[in-house]
Amino acid sequence: MTGSFDEDYENATADVEQVPARPASSRRTFVAGALGAGAGVAATLGTQYAAGASERNSPTPAAPPLQEARVPFYGQRQAGVDTPAPSYALFIALDLNSGTDAGGVQRLLRVLTSDAASLTQGTAPVVDQEPELATVPAHLTVTFGFGERIFDIVNPAKKPAWLQPLPAFEKIDQLQDQWNDGDLLLQLCSSDRFTLAHAQRMLLKTARSMSRVRWVQEGFRRAYGSEPNGQTMRNLFGQVDGTINPSTLDDSMDRFVWGNHEELEPWEPGGTSLVIRRIHMNLDTWAQSDRPAREDAVGRNLTNGAPLTGTQEHDPADLSATNELGFTVIAPYAHIRRASAQSRVERILRRGYNYDLPVQNASGFSEHFETDGGVSNSGLIFCSYQADPLLQFLPIQERLAELDMLNTWTVPIGSAVFALPAGCEQGGFIGENLFT
Ligand code: HEM
Repeated sequence: MTGSFDEDYENATADVEQVPARPASSRRTFVAGALGAGAGVAATLGTQYAAGASERNSPTPAAPPLQEARVPFYGQRQAGVDTPAPSYALFIALDLNSGTDAGGVQRLLRVLTSDAASLTQGTAPVVDQEPELATVPAHLTVTFGFGERIFDIVNPAKKPAWLQPLPAFEKIDQLQDQWNDGDLLLQLCSSDRFTLAHAQRMLLKTARSMSRVRWVQEGFRRAYGSEPNGQTMRNLFGQVDGTINPSTLDDSMDRFVWGNHEELEPWEPGGTSLVIRRIHMNLDTWAQSDRPAREDAVGRNLTNGAPLTGTQEHDPADLSATNELGFTVIAPYAHIRRASAQSRVERILRRGYNYDLPVQNASGFSEHFETDGGVSNSGLIFCSYQADPLLQFLPIQERLAELDMLNTWTVPIGSAVFALPAGCEQGGFIGENLFT
């Protein structure tokens, strides 16, 4: 960073002219990149093994394949929603300084857009003091979300009616203010944790003259290459988590997430919404329940995530099937029965990340949640993307708050709702439609 915010912006925008735009099918692009990268991993590993000790001191090792793994930044929709979820994520909520006006918000969004566009393509922004750290994009995406205050400052008429804190779910919530709400969300995802550290540093340096960090949530999935592409993630309970989700292989993503649906409407074309619930998962009490009880709680088996009425992960769950005693195979309190859609619009994209923090130390200090002498401090950054949280997310959450066997081991400790604006083209900036 140099002196003034405006100078920084002028400098920062100069270097993003060459960034390619995101084509319509972002998924295909990513997968192709990933396959190429996978082949590269195999080739690189093969070469290393074959070469043996004599090559170990080679001055020019093969470039790591993640150096080439770019998710296009520009496009009608932001990346980081229907693009495949990379291994690591940082969710950063910022609060704008008091007195910030619309001009300030615009300058901030312009320069953050410019930085994000560069970083996602493996190019250091001009103000980057460690440009060598920006060279491995590793599927980096930066996705912007707006809290209420951005609209209040810039354009209250455009504020979606649903953009407000969710109602309290008194039976289950133990929300801690340190994980709630926020004015501006930056969702950073990458296959390389190092890339995320640098991207976070760059974006926060840009934002610091106008905002304060409210919270940062860090999450992870399996490392890149450790599982076949497209495999549904597992959470720290060991469950296959994310089977029933909208997909880009049919029109369900388009309909339920981007709002191209007769009963839904996007808040702006190319926009969507994100509900983030930070949910503590008590791995210690979970460990005390046996496998059949765990499977009964969800209604799916733990081996491959198949419903208890089927054998394969993607077999449809038969909610009416009964056993020899006449009880439904999938219990009345099972998570998937309670969460399954009860209307034509109740479909959400779950794209969450696990978290795992240092456990309680000897003096009883637990960083974020009291674990009662246990040896876990873990949970899920539950991320739900949908066109309209009130019509799609809320009824599901209300049912689960009322009855869900999984509540025995889970506690929501944070909650935030953001409007995700449309993407932009080169030369534009994320959120530009609020200013017209
Ligand atoms: C830590 C908390 C949670 C855990 C561990 C969890 C775990 C799971 C698992 C294992 C499945 C079955 C496989 C799948 O389709 O993904 C599932 C399904 C589902 N969950 Fe959750 N979940 C949690 C919280 C939530 C919340 C807060 C919501 C929404 C308010 C939700 C909504 C759903 C939906 C919509 C499905 C698919 C239901 C269907 O079969 O149609 N889950 N969840």
